[in-house]
Amino acid sequence: MRLEGISAAVTGGASGLGLATARKLVKAGAAVTIIDLPTSQGAEVASELGESARFEAADITDVEQFEAALDAAEEAGPLRALVHCAGRGARIRLVEKDGRPGALEPFEDVIQLNLIGSYNALRLGAARMAKHDAVDDERGAIVLTASVAAFEGQIGQIAYTASKAGIVGMTLCAARDLASKAIRVCTIAPGIMDTPLLGRLREDVRKSLEDSVPSPKRLGDPAEFGALACNILENPYLNGETIRLDGAIRMAPR
Ligand SMILES: NC(=O)c1ccc[n+]([C@@H]2O[C@H](COP(=O)([O-])OP(=O)(O)OC[C@H]3O[C@@H](n4cnc5c(N)ncnc54)[C@H](O)[C@@H]3O)[C@@H](O)[C@H]2O)c1
Repeated sequence: MRLEGISAAVTGGASGLGLATARKLVKAGAAVTIIDLPTSQGAEVASELGESARFEAADITDVEQFEAALDAAEEAGPLRALVHCAGRGARIRLVEKDGRPGALEPFEDVIQLNLIGSYNALRLGAARMAKHDAVDDERGAIVLTASVAAFEGQIGQIAYTASKAGIVGMTLCAARDLASKAIRVCTIAPGIMDTPLLGRLREDVRKSLEDSVPSPKRLGDPAEFGALACNILENPYLNGETIRLDGAIRMAPR
């Protein structure tokens, strides 16, 4: 897909991996709608990115808000690309240190945001793309964000791992489901990326995380995620696949 001139939406686009993707898309000439929480820095980053970026405040777990943000994205033209980055983790142990069973509510919240949110991104994004004429034999492409935790969940990551493994599981199924509409779906499974979340870590903790990456021995640059998301959108033969972006890291149990 040629990115120049298309309308693209990026959820979680106000920060971290989403913001890096929005930057790359703007640079490639796309009209970009950043969809993020009203409390995010979305308005500031959209104005910094210039005229081809706009911010639409929405909680993607709310279908009406998500739909309204996608409507706004379509004011810039038919939606051709959706990069879904909104997500977060939660720390729960199956049996907590005080002997109580792990809480149910944070598990449900993370599944709601990460997994059901990704299902919403797929169905709401694809239904729009399916209505448009194909360009160069495709109507659109959707990129989801999993994590290496989908494959090597660490202690305390039960909810996060379940949600991200669900995203990996949906990827091929979604690509098959949307094949007749000429819409592609891929997922990126990042390792440890240098986003604002990591910026708050102590220097020694950060150093030990860097040492755990085989090569290159550093955290991932969000720009590397943005570049891969754009590569996926651009390359018509990439479909139904989850790509690890992780410097060959394999997470230890803790
Ligand atoms: N940073 C990492 O090391 C890493 C590694 C693996 C996977 N990931 C995944 O990448 C994605 C982005 O992570 P990040 O590090 O860029 O985080 P981040 O916190 O910098 O950005 C996430 C953005 O999502 C937005 N968001 C959260 N809930 C939302 C909601 N309900 N509706 C709309 N927007 C919402 C936040 O406001 C924020 O701007 C997440 O899905 C995360 O699980 C990150």
